[in-house]
Amino acid sequence: PQVCWLSPEQTAGKQKPYMYTQGQAVLNRSFFPGFDTPSVKCTYSATVKVPEGFTAVMSATSWEKQEDNTFVFKMSHPIPSYLIALAVGDIVSADVGPRSRVWAEPCLIEAAKKEYDGVIEEFLTVGEKLFGPYVWGRYDILFMPPSFPFGGMENPCLTFVTPCLLAGDRSLADVIIHEISHSWFGNLVTNATWGEFWLNEGFTMYAQRRISTEVYGLAYTCLEAATGRALLRQHMDNTGEDHPLNKLRVVIEPGFSLFLGVNPDDTYNETPYEKGYCFVSYLAHLVGDQSKFDAFLQAYVNRFKFQSITADDALGFFLEYFPELKEKGVDSIPGFEFDRWLNTPGWPPYLPDLSPGEQLMKPAEELAELWAANGLNMEAIKAVDITGWRTYQLVYFLDQVLQKSPLPEGNVERLSKMYPKISKAQNAELRLRWCQIVLKNNLEAEYSKVKDFLHSQGKQKYTLPLYRAMWGGSEAARALAMETFSATAPQLHVNVQNYVKKILGLE
Ligand code: BES
Ligand code: ZN
Repeated sequence: PQVCWLSPEQTAGKQKPYMYTQGQAVLNRSFFPGFDTPSVKCTYSATVKVPEGFTAVMSATSWEKQEDNTFVFKMSHPIPSYLIALAVGDIVSADVGPRSRVWAEPCLIEAAKKEYDGVIEEFLTVGEKLFGPYVWGRYDILFMPPSFPFGGMENPCLTFVTPCLLAGDRSLADVIIHEISHSWFGNLVTNATWGEFWLNEGFTMYAQRRISTEVYGLAYTCLEAATGRALLRQHMDNTGEDHPLNKLRVVIEPGFSLFLGVNPDDTYNETPYEKGYCFVSYLAHLVGDQSKFDAFLQAYVNRFKFQSITADDALGFFLEYFPELKEKGVDSIPGFEFDRWLNTPGWPPYLPDLSPGEQLMKPAEELAELWAANGLNMEAIKAVDITGWRTYQLVYFLDQVLQKSPLPEGNVERLSKMYPKISKAQNAELRLRWCQIVLKNNLEAEYSKVKDFLHSQGKQKYTLPLYRAMWGGSEAARALAMETFSATAPQLHVNVQNYVKKILGLE
């Protein structure tokens, strides 16, 4: 399942085949023999021979092309096995900064360069200022074929990303900032087991939002964090707050057959990300001073770099670093015990204050109220000008509308006509929300948009919510799910295929 072989039709250019690997969480064991656990690290080198007209790239600190289409790669720092990654295709590159270039199929390279030219370096330097040296040398980005199952994958030196990021307006750069943040949290300091995946993703979400705050300001970052909180709400509503995967420390049992136990890939949900973010924010809140907490994060990276650690190591270091907090017994404040954070499923006991984003959130909340009313107040609606809204403001608005859906009869049709910027959007985050609204309101006239979106890309976080919504909807929605899945299944990553099958009861 690790190595994805794509036919020419499955690429953006549709001319040549493509192959890529996706190691996280436990797929690299089907790529090469090794200790496929994040608890051990090693360097690696690889020699890859490809056919004429193809280029190979890897997550390596150095590479050279030798004669006979042979590429030689070396990763000089110890890394866990899941970060070894390879892609081969008709790909070219363009510089976008002093230590960064974008890689993409020739038909996408212009768009890729335009989207990220001159912006990556700032993210890196802010990251270095906050968390210490960037040790990996280069930071390059590979734009993957549309079926790539993730927004981004932090393969060291060479992040793999979905081509959906090519929104044309740099509005989805938070994904890049997220993957850059893994350069410290995840790639330098690594969770020793997948049961504590939140150590990678929770710290990374926190680091991402620290960089974002420095670059874009607090208001915008709080707005983005609020959309993250909405995702956590949706996830917990879906699975039930008490689901055992809604703990930060997940018990991964091997099981006795294919059908028992927990697959580490199942921990890829909003809990390690957004509940993890809340926990790290809670630690920052205990410290009470941003610059002191930033200094702690830097010391944490320095203390554990090139190692794999458990949550106990991380929290032990926190208490050691702040002895006055240890003395106060902050790890056992009733209701907020570290043990409860780690081992009790459910909604986070502490939520960081996102009110600095209110100036951006309030108008979106008010507009959603107006659209949810019986008998629309069109005058009030028309008085709100959304033309200048940022993508995440629209996302936030749509999440509010979705929460209030189904809306009274006819409202969604009018909303669709009123805002073509939303209902005909090309931006994947907007398309996802619009499709969710279409399904929740059973707007059959726009089912084709759901179908087109699912045909155009295969990201897991876009694909599964839409199949869940279709399967939970009308007969027509279920038929749409079946029809779309049988047409697109061969394009989807095998993990995503299997998750969809589960939703549709095909397994
Ligand atoms: N490392 C993850 C992707 C991943 C997680 C792959 C688990 C396999 C198993 C990556 O850093 C990630 O979190 N990507 C997010 C980006 C978002 C949070 C900005 C994604 O793909 O949605
Ligand atoms: Zn991540």
